[in-house]
Amino acid sequence: MRNFKKTMPKKIWVNGRLVDPRRPAVSVFDRGFLYGDGVYETIRVYDGKPFQLEPHFQRLARSLRGIGMRVPFGRAVLGDAVASVMAANRLADGVVRLTVTRGEGALGFDPASCRRPTVVLLAVPFASHPAVHYEKGVRAVFVRLRRNAKNALDPSIKSLNNLNNILAKMESMKKGGQEALMLNQEGYLTEGTISNIFFISGGVLKTPSLDCGLLDGVTRSVVLSLAKRRSLAVWEGRCRPRHLFSAEEVFLTSTTLEVMPVTSVVDEQGRLRRIGSGQVGEWSGRLLRDYRRLITKATGKKFKI
Ligand code: PDD
Repeated sequence: MRNFKKTMPKKIWVNGRLVDPRRPAVSVFDRGFLYGDGVYETIRVYDGKPFQLEPHFQRLARSLRGIGMRVPFGRAVLGDAVASVMAANRLADGVVRLTVTRGEGALGFDPASCRRPTVVLLAVPFASHPAVHYEKGVRAVFVRLRRNAKNALDPSIKSLNNLNNILAKMESMKKGGQEALMLNQEGYLTEGTISNIFFISGGVLKTPSLDCGLLDGVTRSVVLSLAKRRSLAVWEGRCRPRHLFSAEEVFLTSTTLEVMPVTSVVDEQGRLRRIGSGQVGEWSGRLLRDYRRLITKATGKKFKI
């Protein structure tokens, strides 16, 4: 989105107050700005109702614990914040980005001078993905860049330090893909830059296990339970890229993508590999519909498919 300012929110929520986003709201000494010292969540709101809010709050708490912080506001305050930032921007369908940083502090890595965390909520309209992506599937690219090692900045922490993923995304775009796929240091598959990866192989739904070093996606968990409800066998473990190339179906999951089919993959040598028949597979379509049915049940939002 090149002219993002057109979608500039009317109000943003900063530490308990709705303020004008054109005025400086966060200090230039904020450690989120200076060092990426903070965490975030991206929450989808459908027809005015946040979807899977509780799991997002739980992961926020885990991420904060992972960086030695605690959730600075109570659950009720944050729930109200989500609702009020949506209402202040007159949005029913949208995305709320909730950021928590260690706050303002002296230059240097020692966080001792940080007195108060910064909490910012932004609400923006949901920019829907092109329908053709769901109908024909997207292309994913195995990139050179590896996912952060689990024993460095653990990918299970949804941290503001996204540069590795941004570089991976740039590499995948250069190679004509909509999403990058990253391996870990041992060469096992982890996830995309903003999504988790699944594939169907021998009629079994497979996905890299959390110990491969990846984000415990909220959508990933929902899709795993939907699959079990359909009696689709599920397997979590260590996967090599070749397992993906021979899969019958591949798809990505995330809060904003929901269930996005992948119909071609560029391998590490730059070769284009078709997945299955090259068309959106049955399970990808079925799980997307199941996922949306769940959204309808939880929020009332109606979908065309
Ligand atoms: N991205 N893996 C990574 C690295 C992610 O950043 C995300 C989420 C996911 C999927 O997680 P979930 O199902 O909880 O959205 C997996 C969000 C959408 C973002 O970065 O805005």
